[in-house]
Amino acid sequence: MTNNTTSTFSSSFLNQWGSGKIYVTGLAGFLLTVTFPTTAFIFLASILIYFIQFRSKLKLRKKKASLPPGPVPWPIVGNIPELVTKKPAFRWIEMLMKEMNTDIACIRLGSTHIIPVKCPIIAREFLKKQDAIFASRPITMGTEYSSRGFLSVAVAPWGDQWKKMRRVVASEVINPARLRWLLEKRTDEADNLVRYVYNQCMSSDQVNSPDVNCGGAVVNVRVATRSYSGNVIRKLMFNKRYFGEGRSDGGPGAEEEEHVGALFTVLSLLYAFSISDYIPRLRCLDLDGHEKIMKAATKIVNRYHDTIIDERIKQWRDEENEFRCPMKEPEDLVDVLISLKDNKGKPILSPDEIKAQSADLIYASVDNPSNAVEWAMAEMINQPELLLKAVEEIDRVVGKDRLVQESDFPKLNYVKACAREAFRLHPIAPFNLPHVSNVDTTVAGYFIPKGSHVLLMRTGLGRNPNVWDEPLKFNPERHLNGSTEVELSESELRFISFSTGRRGCVGVSLGSAMTTMLLARLLQGFNWTVPHGESRIDLSESTHDLFLAKALHAHATPRLPAHMYPKN
Ligand code: HEM
Repeated sequence: MTNNTTSTFSSSFLNQWGSGKIYVTGLAGFLLTVTFPTTAFIFLASILIYFIQFRSKLKLRKKKASLPPGPVPWPIVGNIPELVTKKPAFRWIEMLMKEMNTDIACIRLGSTHIIPVKCPIIAREFLKKQDAIFASRPITMGTEYSSRGFLSVAVAPWGDQWKKMRRVVASEVINPARLRWLLEKRTDEADNLVRYVYNQCMSSDQVNSPDVNCGGAVVNVRVATRSYSGNVIRKLMFNKRYFGEGRSDGGPGAEEEEHVGALFTVLSLLYAFSISDYIPRLRCLDLDGHEKIMKAATKIVNRYHDTIIDERIKQWRDEENEFRCPMKEPEDLVDVLISLKDNKGKPILSPDEIKAQSADLIYASVDNPSNAVEWAMAEMINQPELLLKAVEEIDRVVGKDRLVQESDFPKLNYVKACAREAFRLHPIAPFNLPHVSNVDTTVAGYFIPKGSHVLLMRTGLGRNPNVWDEPLKFNPERHLNGSTEVELSESELRFISFSTGRRGCVGVSLGSAMTTMLLARLLQGFNWTVPHGESRIDLSESTHDLFLAKALHAHATPRLPAHMYPKN
């Protein structure tokens, strides 16, 4: 029936046009029988044009690359139902890509295309070849809180604010001269780490423990590594280790525990697939409860930071008002941020920008070094021959009559290979920070629409069997390459440590120094073994993130002469 109508329509158009009499059926027929030839011409011509346009659009669509493979999205919500029911999202995505046997996928959340990638060649296409297109970040509830409305560099979308803060941080805050200036503060915290672990080994409340052997104790390595990272960055930013009274043994007080705990909570929720990030209208319902937790955690962080920053701003401004130019020399990074001036002598950063950027640098520094070293220690205790090699290297390069210094790092290649292996095999998070595209483009032959969130999969890359032999084995030797100095960065994206490109980490030197020092001092200062009564360290990964499921507890005994341990 339909076919007949169509053929009647076309033949009528072709054959009868000259006479001005047109016989067609349906609505067109009705319209045409009641009007005259000009109207009929316009009507039929527009239908013809429509069909021509429709056909050419179809052809174009056929030519245009398709989206990467992925689960069929539901109308409007996309794959949010799967996201909600198959937690944690990253394990669902890993499983999905394995089942689909693909290195790149497309998952739709609301109207956003999420593009996970686990192949280094495709990763390089995103962050090297087309880096400029993928240099933005998503707008999320979590990053809005952490950055006081996208004021700080790490999470700001592409634009003037990001450019301003990136310039400030890269050229004024974390540059090589500044890092040299801050060396003493970092060394203080490396000494404090050794002191803290040593004090535990010697502590009298461990005396009745079966693990005590000529001064030794079971140490919570997670607490030690997180405290070290927190202490270093607090010292660099605020020139203080402790917010409160601290502890005489060098360990974290209640304030530092609360601070570091809140930092980790914020970090876990920055890009946590919160439903409202994809359907903003639902934000008031806080369906996954993320906003409530984020609000509380940032409140804690800000409470600690703001008191100090407000006070410092006041000191600097008071001094400027009194002497017309600052008499003070900066003592730490907050001073640096406050004292930055443009060429008219006006402060470059507002108080909110100073606060947001300080917090941003603290978030950026605290989690990676501590997690990598906790994992490296756990893996190495289970393979004591690796521990032995690393310690032999330290003894050869540094000896036993001084503690490791940053100037030793170029020669500590085995130690750095262990840290690098920890970044490969045990990244802090399942994905790199998301990169958002600012135009439509094609990558690896697939269409990637403007606004897509590209997620380089840290485990997918670092544990990729096409790239790494025995990918699940902790084997630092794979990073040793004759005489070349080992670095922790991996710009070819065969795994993610500091990433690369416009949004690559600005803290490569500082992050590498913190991680290497943390591992080297723990290895130099102490013999590490499995606690009494256990045969191995349990290397199970947590199900909802990539941390060791149980914080590493290991038995430590001092291995240097007593006078080498920094005193209280
Ligand atoms: C071992 C320690 C560290 C690791 C593994 C690490 C890793 C990373 C990674 C993977 C990114 C995201 C790159 C991308 O989007 O492609 C990043 C960004 C960033 N990191 Fe680090 N980081 C470390 C330490 C630090 C430190 C100590 C600082 C500064 C104090 C820092 C500051 C930043 C900043 C500001 C960004 C954002 C850059 C931007 O978006 O323009 N990081 N880092």
